[in-house]
Amino acid sequence: MAGAGLPRSVVPRHVGFIMDGNGRWAEERNLPRTEGHSQGAEALRQMIRDANDRGIAEVTCYALSTENFQRRPAQEIRFLMDLLAHHLRQEREEMERMQVRFRAIGRLEELPDQTRETIEQATIETEGNDGIVLRLAVNYGGRAEIADAFESQAPRQDATLESTDEGRERRVIEHLYEPGMPDLDLLIRTGGEIRISNFLLWHCSYAELHFIPILWPDFCADHLDVALEEYAQRVRRFGSIPTTAPGGDA
Ligand code: IPE
Ligand code: IPE
Ligand code: MG
Repeated sequence: MAGAGLPRSVVPRHVGFIMDGNGRWAEERNLPRTEGHSQGAEALRQMIRDANDRGIAEVTCYALSTENFQRRPAQEIRFLMDLLAHHLRQEREEMERMQVRFRAIGRLEELPDQTRETIEQATIETEGNDGIVLRLAVNYGGRAEIADAFESQAPRQDATLESTDEGRERRVIEHLYEPGMPDLDLLIRTGGEIRISNFLLWHCSYAELHFIPILWPDFCADHLDVALEEYAQRVRRFGSIPTTAPGGDA
């Protein structure tokens, strides 16, 4: 049974998190915004354990959007870059114990060298693990991902494949940041905003959406369990006529 008392068969395979509300969490306490990000990193650390305990196979967490990277003060971005590198190094033992497979998606080539190298190192070192996939979206934008996929399209080679809808979609997927990444089953956004903010536009097509006012640093297992229980009640139709159980692949 999952942590929420749910059977594993109704636990979503791939859950996305838009971890929003760090700045407001800090402002409410008259603390600098950076303190909200530090607490947010702690909440993320705990959430990975909780997700793992509940049998979720993959989590993709929005750490920084392309818009954040361009529009936030340089000092805040620098802090976030250092925080990320620090946690990746500090959490190595814990990641090994949980057999976490770490990955990152986004325009990683634009990140500072030290952050990029730490990400690359953690990715390589955890590649052979067989536990939960922890994917961080860093300097990530859904539109940037699709634009980058168009940019890297090779000349047409297989006209037969191209001629079907499935073939054309597969061709796009092959050029996304991580072609093997499954679609999202459930997307959880904290912080109270009811929007996607450029997260995983391709993979969200049929995700179940769960928006909550909780600020990310306050997110805990109880909130995850409520989202999972709600997900288990949803009927996923994928455009067809319903029969399947939640989380099923109709
Ligand atoms: C989300 O928290 C984390 C990042 C975007 C890096 P915010 O920093 O957006 O926090 P709020 O929305 O201002 O409270
Ligand atoms: C979305 O939050 C990005 C992350 C959580 C990393 P934002 O705070 O950037 O979203 P908007 O600006 O409110 O849409
Ligand atoms: Mg925000």
